[in-house]
Amino acid sequence: MSIAIYPGSFDPVHLGHLDVIRRAAACFDKVWVCVMVNAEKKAPMFTPERRVELLRESVADIENVEVEAFDGLLASYAVSKGANVLVKGVRNATDFDQEYQMAAINRGICPGLETVLLPSSPACQHFSSTMVREMIKYGQPMEKYVPAPVAEELKRKERA
Ligand code: PNS
Repeated sequence: MSIAIYPGSFDPVHLGHLDVIRRAAACFDKVWVCVMVNAEKKAPMFTPERRVELLRESVADIENVEVEAFDGLLASYAVSKGANVLVKGVRNATDFDQEYQMAAINRGICPGLETVLLPSSPACQHFSSTMVREMIKYGQPMEKYVPAPVAEELKRKERA
């Protein structure tokens, strides 16, 4: 059975993430989407628990995908799931440079742990959680950037 991990902050999950999840789900028997802490990113919009809930709602129609949070080393999480593949989405050369380094770090921690890079679909190439937050600030409609459960949550937040 081929098991892959798709890790990220997902704060919030956007349609670019969802595109990678769907494509990874078509390549592997099982995909664990893992909500993790990125030490570089401060002032989160959603708690990890809420991010997991929103992701679960967003991927409810994809049979072989499950979502969890994990606060630790990605390589340890992969071992605990019996996974030997990490999936990452790459939008541009900057992403590629970062992911190339992280792939080496993760393989250094856990030999045999491979990283598969999926190039963004053109429609999602400019999507990022940072961009989504910026669009929220200026009241832009969210439906074209984020899955429906996230758009609804953002509307609820706005009304509160
Ligand atoms: O969505 P992001 O913020 O780009 O995801 C980055 C993430 C969470 C995948 C990365 O920061 C990570 O792997 N964190 C877990 C800690 C870890 O294993 N670090 C070593 C690998 S660089």
